[in-house]
Amino acid sequence: MATTTHDMETWVDVDWAKFDPWRIQPLRHHVQDHPLMQMDALLALAQRLDAAGSVRTHSDSAKAGTPFNSAPELFPNGTNPVETLRNLARAQAWMSLLNIQKDPLYRTLVRGVLDELQPEIDDCDPGMSYRGGWIFVTSPNAVTPYHFDAEHNFILQVQGRKRVYVWAHDDVEVASEQARDLFHLNHERYLLRWRDAFRERAQVIDLQPGQGAYMPSTSPHMVENGDGPSVTVSFTYYTDATREKSRLHAGHGALRKLGLQPSPIGQSGLSDALGTLLLKLRGDYRDKAAHARDAYAEEAA
Ligand SMILES: [Fe+2]
Repeated sequence: MATTTHDMETWVDVDWAKFDPWRIQPLRHHVQDHPLMQMDALLALAQRLDAAGSVRTHSDSAKAGTPFNSAPELFPNGTNPVETLRNLARAQAWMSLLNIQKDPLYRTLVRGVLDELQPEIDDCDPGMSYRGGWIFVTSPNAVTPYHFDAEHNFILQVQGRKRVYVWAHDDVEVASEQARDLFHLNHERYLLRWRDAFRERAQVIDLQPGQGAYMPSTSPHMVENGDGPSVTVSFTYYTDATREKSRLHAGHGALRKLGLQPSPIGQSGLSDALGTLLLKLRGDYRDKAAHARDAYAEEAA
């Protein structure tokens, strides 16, 4: 159902008339009212995902410029996930409950929300796959280091306030073509380097419960938590377009590993074809989405 106002019949209210899969868009929702977003349910989930090794956490010493991939090793959180969540206001921690769709109970939440969105998304961005969910719990004033992700992302604020800085998916001033190529080749993020001046180019979205945003695949982002505890949930997926873009970047990444400097993806048919060929010859490029789809299918069986 497409609406522009709060509608209790839907979890997420998107202005579909304005929706563009490659453009950042604020939205409203009421996922904070869902039973699985209440603290008792979240504590039980944290316990289950901790036992499954599906929690990522670091202390609030991580800052905007901390290398995202290394933050848990650089700034370990010495408290276990359940205690971190129970004492979030004083935990001085950042924590992500990963791949909540692997949990049979929370899989129903991921499916419920994305089933609702999928018909409208399919019209303009077909091929939705590897539908996932992530819950971020953060202590007061903790920061999510600057980074980007491969998936399209509906990020929804459940508790507390945060400020999201997000940049366009194709802004090469903040994330170079080379950084994008290497990320898609093997998830290296070390060429993605934070500069404080980037703030001036950001779209700044302040979130409180009931507010959210759609962020296209590989939109760089950095998040500053407010002065209270925060709970946020993200629903993510790949599409035919994200997979094609990822494959082209990965091909160019493979060319760069040989010392070549390809033009940006889509600008040279020769570079794009050479990159694709090289990926096949290397034989070591795994379509992460395809791999993850298989895992999801196993879980659904
Ligand atoms: Fe992210």
